[in-house]
Amino acid sequence: MNSSTPTSAFANTARVPARWRPDVERVLITQGRIRNRLRILAREIERDFIGSEMVVVSLLNGTVMLLADLVRCLSLPLRLDFIGVSSYGAGTESGELIFTKDLRLDVRGRDVLLVDDILDTGRTMTRVLERLTALGPRRIRTCVLLDKPSRRIKSIQADYVGFEIPDVFVVGYGLDFAERYRNLPFVGVLHPDIYSHKQTGTRRLSRLNPPEAMKISAL
Ligand code: XMP
Repeated sequence: MNSSTPTSAFANTARVPARWRPDVERVLITQGRIRNRLRILAREIERDFIGSEMVVVSLLNGTVMLLADLVRCLSLPLRLDFIGVSSYGAGTESGELIFTKDLRLDVRGRDVLLVDDILDTGRTMTRVLERLTALGPRRIRTCVLLDKPSRRIKSIQADYVGFEIPDVFVVGYGLDFAERYRNLPFVGVLHPDIYSHKQTGTRRLSRLNPPEAMKISAL
């Protein structure tokens, strides 16, 4: 476990760029704050992994920006691999996970850093950890950009957390809504209109009932 406290995502006054204003209600975490926080996390990871060649295992697709920025801050020998995980399978119930890609590297006896975009209910991380543990790594540490502890249903914490956030649906910096908004350079709160106007079969939509959407709009 690391000792640093995840930064609160509040206290942000950055304006949403005009291009994104119809969709994004407010900027929760700016690009600059993400950059600074990743540098700090990288120093902690380097300290904890010194002397080992770690395997960084990143969950597709939401970690694409986080991974690219984080590994460039790490001055350690490392190898990269990816696990594909999705909850969008046709006809599957909310929370049902499907593995779409497995690891190619052998992690037996290795030190692994598992990277995900957000720790929400904890279901995804728990399932992935079970799968990884079965491969016999020496140790696994976990790193997430965002943590929503208020929604947790599994007893799990990440070792390295960028920002603790409230129970709002966020997009940007790799995080999507119906596969959109991943390219926003900041983390933003999606405007409630987007939820009410679009109907898709994704887990993310079905997870948000009207009171939750209202909560987002009230923040
Ligand atoms: P669980 O609940 O398994 O969730 O911890 C982890 C995965 O769910 C997605 N997720 C989100 N995606 N905005 C998003 O764009 C959110 O607020 C959000 N909350 C959860 C995400 O893919 C994550 O890996």
